[in-house]
Amino acid sequence: MINLILFGPPGSGKGTQAARLVEKYKLMHVSTGDLFRYEMGNDTPLGLKAKEYISKGELVPDEVTVGMLSNKLDMYPEAKGFILDGFPRNVFQSEALDKLLSDKNSAVTQLIALDVEEEEIVQRILKRAETSGRKDDADEGIIRNRIEVYKNETAIVFDYYEKANKAKRISGMGSIDEITNRLFEEIDSIL
Ligand code: C5P
Ligand code: MG
Repeated sequence: MINLILFGPPGSGKGTQAARLVEKYKLMHVSTGDLFRYEMGNDTPLGLKAKEYISKGELVPDEVTVGMLSNKLDMYPEAKGFILDGFPRNVFQSEALDKLLSDKNSAVTQLIALDVEEEEIVQRILKRAETSGRKDDADEGIIRNRIEVYKNETAIVFDYYEKANKAKRISGMGSIDEITNRLFEEIDSIL
């Protein structure tokens, strides 16, 4: 299997780019944020639980997120691999992911981080709010909190995979096409 983690702060373009990567590499796109939003849209117990945290820009408890992710991976036993977007969000989730994949005789192939300046991120998310309908995109206070959580808990996930020589950073600044081409180049060099 080829399992890629598309990494980076909120608003760095993970979802946008993942949609392009799945087309080219025929991998399954798994966005934990999208999965939560689907559950919230249907007012499921999982959605209601997630909403308590997402509405504040906090992380949903690990057991909830890891359980949901595990179910999702199990749904596609024939997949050629996954592009994970928005997961793992902390070291605990990284360790849980490694375990889930090793149980499938697989592993993370590579983490690719999109590097984007902080003010650019805030502007992108506020712009996205005009069409995303996401309440956590429309409020600058919530956006700033999401960025704080990223810095305090998520950024270290890069180091976790770097220790295994599996982390790479590319610029996430510029046009969507430019960033896609950087990703293609990077992924082609791994595969
Ligand atoms: O990944 P995305 O930015 O779409 O996630 C939206 C929100 O979902 C996050 O701000 C966070 O509240 C929650 N989330 C989480 N744990 C994850 C992914 C998303 O708590 N692994
Ligand atoms: Mg996203």
